[in-house]
Amino acid sequence: MTDVPDTDPPNARLSTTRPSGTDASDARDTVLLVGAGRMGGSMLEGWLAQGVSGGRIAVSDPQPSPALTALCRAGGVALNPPAVHPVDTLVLAIKPQALEASAPAIASWAGPGTAVVSILAGRTLADLAARFPRAAGCVRAMPNLPASVGRGITGFASDGRLSPEAVLRAERWLGAVGRVERLAHEGEIDMVTAVSGSGPAYVFLLAEALARAGERLGLSPDLAARLGRATVEGAGELLHRQPDVPPATLRQNVTSPGGTTAAALAVLMADDALGPLLDRAVEAAFRRAQELSR
Ligand SMILES: NC(=O)c1ccc[n+]([C@@H]2O[C@H](COP(=O)([O-])OP(=O)(O)OC[C@H]3O[C@@H](n4cnc5c(N)ncnc54)[C@H](OP(=O)(O)O)[C@@H]3O)[C@@H](O)[C@H]2O)c1
Repeated sequence: MTDVPDTDPPNARLSTTRPSGTDASDARDTVLLVGAGRMGGSMLEGWLAQGVSGGRIAVSDPQPSPALTALCRAGGVALNPPAVHPVDTLVLAIKPQALEASAPAIASWAGPGTAVVSILAGRTLADLAARFPRAAGCVRAMPNLPASVGRGITGFASDGRLSPEAVLRAERWLGAVGRVERLAHEGEIDMVTAVSGSGPAYVFLLAEALARAGERLGLSPDLAARLGRATVEGAGELLHRQPDVPPATLRQNVTSPGGTTAAALAVLMADDALGPLLDRAVEAAFRRAQELSR
């Protein structure tokens, strides 16, 4: 357990399900975050950084770290309060395999007005609905790792039972750690998983591969690693700062005809090169996501 005692009176501030607005600035709806590890902890930090009142937030995490305990205390967030009244939104951010064991205990937080929002990989809307039968409806979302620096992208689908206001609330809670995309149907979750959910690892691999290629040319491993990392970092920042410029335009802008970049791109963009390779990689991730959702 933690070495920093939680002195919040149990459920003192998070006591009722209140009418909810649709504007983040005056919203008063309540949320329970179940699991405050890497992803859940980032969401909690995002909510507090956005100025959400800690009195609207409760966190359930059986073994809170000292950092989580301190964050909850500083933000006025109720940590591990007993369930007294259902919340408006229940965000599940535990490991998928922990759901069986924890769902019965969590279920009492979900009443007829509660939207259950899950970021659990592979857990379907039907599975969630069966585990939270009293809830108003469920949302299945797939964030990605840059959420931990507030630059994630999350795709989500709802099961169609929730009101537009409840979906908007879910979108707002998810949006604290980056952009949010509403999906047309749940089947797109596995596609999002294959592209952006797993995508950060593909980009890290690019930094590794660039470093290895530099080393093969004769650079020291340390220098090559620094070049690979800084190149991916900087290019990502340029994409971030120019949201209206397509990546292809940024690429063309740095490619002089007959120059060094053009020589490399001729290899990378050959018919059997990076494009088809990424197609196969993303398809493999998609198939695996489908298997895990079954
Ligand atoms: N990380 C990613 O990039 C990413 C991307 C997309 C989706 N996701 C999804 O996000 C979920 C969380 O991933 P994560 O990387 O944040 O995992 P994590 O760091 O292990 O966080 C899970 C947290 O839940 C806590 N927990 C375990 N059992 C619990 C229970 N019964 N009630 C409340 N809390 C409980 C864990 O505590 P202990 O550590 O003490 O067990 C831990 O603090 C997963 O379902 C994953 O599929 C993650």
